[in-house]
Amino acid sequence: MATGLLRRVIIRVPATVQGARISLNRAHASEASVQQEEPQAKHTSNPKTFQIYRWTPDNPQKPELQNFEIDLKECGPMVLDALIKIKIDPTLTFRRSCREGICGSCAMNIDGRNGLACLTKIPSGPSTMINPLPHMFVIKDLVVDMTNFYNQYKSIEPWLKRKSPPETPGKEILQSKEDRKKLDGMYECILCACCSTSCPSYWWNPESYLGPAALLHANRWIMDSRDEYTKERLDAVNDEFKLYRCHTILNCAKACPKGLNPGMQIQNIKKLELTS
Ligand code: SF4
Ligand code: SF4
Ligand code: FES
Repeated sequence: MATGLLRRVIIRVPATVQGARISLNRAHASEASVQQEEPQAKHTSNPKTFQIYRWTPDNPQKPELQNFEIDLKECGPMVLDALIKIKIDPTLTFRRSCREGICGSCAMNIDGRNGLACLTKIPSGPSTMINPLPHMFVIKDLVVDMTNFYNQYKSIEPWLKRKSPPETPGKEILQSKEDRKKLDGMYECILCACCSTSCPSYWWNPESYLGPAALLHANRWIMDSRDEYTKERLDAVNDEFKLYRCHTILNCAKACPKGLNPGMQIQNIKKLELTS
């Protein structure tokens, strides 16, 4: 698959406003006429510019920011609503599916912060910049290659592992309410990668450091009272790079759109490593 490494060497911002709907304000209205026209203006337009990262493997030159102006009066309140409006340019590429903060596919960098486009309100101000998730290989525009991220998730074996059969064959393996509660703060993860791609340690060691998302899931299975491979799971991540590249900077917790704290879950693994 052709990919282009995302670098922040964005070469130019085209001066012309392109794409979507173009709204014009009157330039030379006197103060009095502005006051008179204000009630009507409320019903006309509220233009905002979106600067969006563009790169395509079909024309692999340096990436650039492209300006799109839309009328917020004719747009829903979220960044994803704006992107869908802008999609009037059919070449603009981004991922989205659920529109409800469940699928994790619309993760991107909005005005310098990672987040889900469908859960992020359109920021106030005349312009907003939208980039792909940082330090990821770009496939096209806002779509990044998640292969390494998913492989790391797979490497922690995110499924229940047992050495013994259930007490009652063919029935569920039960868990107390207290044990179930230990999974809170982890099971809610939607694998959007906002945390891992905001983590400086992950930027510098994306191949060898598992990153906050995969480690949060490692802890989720370590803490599951029904799982019988706790020691093996701890041994598997007890590695200078896989686990101990986390320096508890907690960018991950700040970035998580679900309000989770992967850094705290990583701390829990480190504590268990000391006592196992
Ligand atoms: S706490 Fe660890 S995982 Fe989270 S951002 Fe910092 S180094 Fe990365
Ligand atoms: S912990 Fe939060 S930011 Fe990280 S992948 Fe899960 S939901 Fe996304
Ligand atoms: S579209 Fe599914 S999380 Fe945003």
